[in-house]
Amino acid sequence: MTTIKQTGLFEQEAGATSSAQDLQSQAGPEKAPQQLQALREQILTLDYEYYVLDAPSVPDSEYDRLFRQLQQLESDHPELITPDSPTQRVGGTALKAFDSVTHRQAMLSLNNAFEDEELLAFDKRARETLGVDSIEYAVEPKFDGLAITLTYEHGILTQGATRGDGYSGENVTSNLCTIKSIRRKLPLQTPPALLEVRGEVLMLKRDFDKLNQEQEAKGEKRFVNPRNAAAGSLRQLDPNITATRPLTFFAYGLGVTEGVPAFTSHSAAMDYLDSLKLPVSRQRAVVQGLEGLRDYYVRIGNERNDLPFDIDGVVYKVNNLNQQRELGFVSRAPRWAIAHKFPAQEALTEVLAIDVQVGRTGAITPVARLKPVFVGGVTVTNATLHNQDEIDRKDVRVGDTVSVRRAGDVIPEVVGVLLERRPAETQPYQLLESIKHACPVCGSHAVRLEDEAAVRCTGGLFCSAQRKEAILHFASRRAMDVEGLGDKLVEQLVDSQLVKTLAELYSLTLEQLSGLERMAEKSAQNLLQALQASKHTTLARFIYALGIRNVGEATAKDLARYFGGLAALQAATGEELQQVPDVGPIVLIQLSPFSPRPITVR
Ligand code: IVH
Repeated sequence: MTTIKQTGLFEQEAGATSSAQDLQSQAGPEKAPQQLQALREQILTLDYEYYVLDAPSVPDSEYDRLFRQLQQLESDHPELITPDSPTQRVGGTALKAFDSVTHRQAMLSLNNAFEDEELLAFDKRARETLGVDSIEYAVEPKFDGLAITLTYEHGILTQGATRGDGYSGENVTSNLCTIKSIRRKLPLQTPPALLEVRGEVLMLKRDFDKLNQEQEAKGEKRFVNPRNAAAGSLRQLDPNITATRPLTFFAYGLGVTEGVPAFTSHSAAMDYLDSLKLPVSRQRAVVQGLEGLRDYYVRIGNERNDLPFDIDGVVYKVNNLNQQRELGFVSRAPRWAIAHKFPAQEALTEVLAIDVQVGRTGAITPVARLKPVFVGGVTVTNATLHNQDEIDRKDVRVGDTVSVRRAGDVIPEVVGVLLERRPAETQPYQLLESIKHACPVCGSHAVRLEDEAAVRCTGGLFCSAQRKEAILHFASRRAMDVEGLGDKLVEQLVDSQLVKTLAELYSLTLEQLSGLERMAEKSAQNLLQALQASKHTTLARFIYALGIRNVGEATAKDLARYFGGLAALQAATGEELQQVPDVGPIVLIQLSPFSPRPITVR
């Protein structure tokens, strides 16, 4: 789950979370009552922000951590558990602005499993209680949205309510009626007298991107993530505004019913909803035993980034409804279901510095150096800040506490700043000023062109950073495919001035290469062979390998097809070049100095 507001919304007391971190290290029996009290208050504040204000001040991973800490402390000191503890109830109370609705049946929560052992314990306990060897489970994604109940009376949608505190929520019927995937009338001749459908309202990733583009075009604030956008949209007092927000709904359960078929399993109930043309998850499945759960977790984990909506885990439910009844509930959650969470894709950390990197095309990109943080399954120490516009939009400064996101193979990025944790005396970051208008690598003038977001070094291949990147691109698999020419080696070749142009790669000698650090004679020989082999390539790959700005693989192929040979391409006039598909004035500027340029190196 990703739940951070970008600016100005972190009303929570400064440093509140770090104070809880401190608690961990102080654990001791005499301190336990105060620690419990502090943790509970902190969690209650976060619950209020999350459930009532829809303005969370920390990512869910942080909330989960504090909650688990409280659970741990309470299980160490069970005599100190109080009925008002966040672990003993479902969070939040309904806002006044919408009518309050009392749920016929409480909308409870799920326990979470993060580790395999917790999953094992869940399955074991259920098997032991039921006295069976293996359990059949209904499995589904855990949608990262907002829980609601839809009430259909005699086939007509008469009410839609948010979860609120689990016992009473807000009447958001008019807003839910604007959601296109929710039917207002069930497609049945004789509908049931009462059907409560439970599920999640969310915003698809692509709808979220589109909404943000529109917000920006209107000069309005961007939403930080789809969950925030869905929450903000569902809780609009004016349904006309909600109607302009692309919300989606997925059903995952039933509440109170009258006159529906007698289902024996959860999956049969979902099939029934499916038959009523209500949206149910396409990823739902029925699996057998612990192995089935583990396989499903891995499968959905792999699909996670490609799904059209955000999920933060998967949910396992004992499929047989009689078995569910036998297992029952404990405190705030059922014993027959558990949410198995994926590693958080967002976490909090600190910006230690803002450095720059010079890319192949001379773009000077700001990079946040971060206090190492575990997120998305890896330790992250850097996050791209893209360009000055992005920095301005997020107002990221050195010393800030930021929320960092890493999803799949995507480069980690800073999502937003926790303004209330900003130390005194920080300065807005200005890229050009910080590098004194000069490329930090070669000292050439650095400029930002009017219609570009990037600041660029004007040094071209004179700049060793650009030369390194250009050589790496030249040697890459889809270009000249020179095996063994990796970044460490390129660094040495450029720094020792052995290679000043791409062409000079081909006059390297065994002697020169063997003289390099950590270069055995055998590797040097292999590299020379790989370089020779790379000469047998296509014109398209060669053009692409040159790394001309705006000439990607497709344009390189078009150029090769049109001109047939290098000589014809080099002799081409601007007019001729523009005959090639996709070659317009912009590409033309990049192609005009096509003939090899003399390069001087200091
Ligand atoms: S079942 C009694 N199934 O997770 C248990 N919940 O922590 C009822 N959620 O409030 C919940 N996807 O908002 C269930 N496939 C799914 C879910 C799901 C997301 C949310 C739901 C609930 C929260 C519980």
